[in-house]
Amino acid sequence: MQGLLTLGQFIIEKQSDFPYAKGELSRLLRDIGIAAKIVNREVNKAGLMDILGDVGTVNIQGENQKKLDVFANEQFISALTSGGECCIVASEENDDFVPIDAEVSKNAKYIVAIDPLDGSSNIDVNVAVGTIFSIYRRKSTDGKATLEDVLQNGTEQVAAGYVIYGSSTMLVYTTGKGVNGFTLDPSIGEFCLSHPNMTIPKDGTIYSLNEGNYVHFPDGVKKYLKYCQVEDQQTSRPYTSRYIGSMVADVHRNMIKGGIFIYPTTSGAPNGKLRLVYECNPMAFIIEQAGGRATDGYNRICEKEVSSLHQRSAIFIGSENMVLKAEEFMRQYSALTPDEKAEKKLEQMGVIGGID
Ligand code: AHG
Ligand code: MN
Ligand code: MN
Repeated sequence: MQGLLTLGQFIIEKQSDFPYAKGELSRLLRDIGIAAKIVNREVNKAGLMDILGDVGTVNIQGENQKKLDVFANEQFISALTSGGECCIVASEENDDFVPIDAEVSKNAKYIVAIDPLDGSSNIDVNVAVGTIFSIYRRKSTDGKATLEDVLQNGTEQVAAGYVIYGSSTMLVYTTGKGVNGFTLDPSIGEFCLSHPNMTIPKDGTIYSLNEGNYVHFPDGVKKYLKYCQVEDQQTSRPYTSRYIGSMVADVHRNMIKGGIFIYPTTSGAPNGKLRLVYECNPMAFIIEQAGGRATDGYNRICEKEVSSLHQRSAIFIGSENMVLKAEEFMRQYSALTPDEKAEKKLEQMGVIGGID
């Protein structure tokens, strides 16, 4: 572990990686880091305050909003608003994208997509939760930023990161030049570089998915799961099953130890559960930058056509060789017919309705 290099210092050092940048991205990352510290403070004392439980409202996904979902959303939006570098926030907790007041954001170049609190059903039981963010460059050159600015494919991300509020709090991010992790030192209130140049092992022995949905899984996933559970000394099977139910925490563990996280399509959710824009794309960008792989079982997540804000996708993400193996099973047992492929494409483009 290096000396105490704080997130702020690290961001400034790395600014020279982008010779034409004027520091806006650095400021944006710094603002996200500050909001994360405020959210961390509330998450840490959640049991002591009247901040556990539901607000009594439902978000566009039909999920009960937790008080901390709403609090975290407000903190990130407020930090991004006052920063002046961001013109639109697209959040899991808002039906539509949130335009930042034109006066503040006239010259703002960036769009932020965010899952303010990931794994929120774990809040009430003191289990790790997270935040996921994704940053895009604004496409429009004048006037108000629009939905088209938000609906960019994952390959266009300029930065992405997550915060994990766990046994310690960490912020992990990439700007497309590797992945670095920072641990919050509560005694000085700073994120300090603790995991420089993070890489995910090429192989692993952990599989992570909600096995309770087994009966609804595609055959390819069922067969892959059985493959994971069969004894084979050469490949260290049977593998270990670990599922926290907070994507950030499950993916973070696999990043460090090696493993695969799968949230497949199910018969009840034919497009998967997780959201492409603020869950799958950012996590895919980070894991790819760490040397791993992220697909929907067939195609690369970051290349998927983004057609709506809350669009869902299946995801297979983690150690490269494990994801490749799972894809083999998908091709063999859950191959899409040309008609199904065409239908999926239309669904993705929003031409015909899938369930969202
Ligand atoms: P969120 O709390 O932002 O809605 O996300 C929850 C997600 C993800 O974090 C997790 O991997 C998954 O939902 C768990 O879903 P199941 O309860 O269906 O396993
Ligand atoms: Mn989430
Ligand atoms: Mn969430």
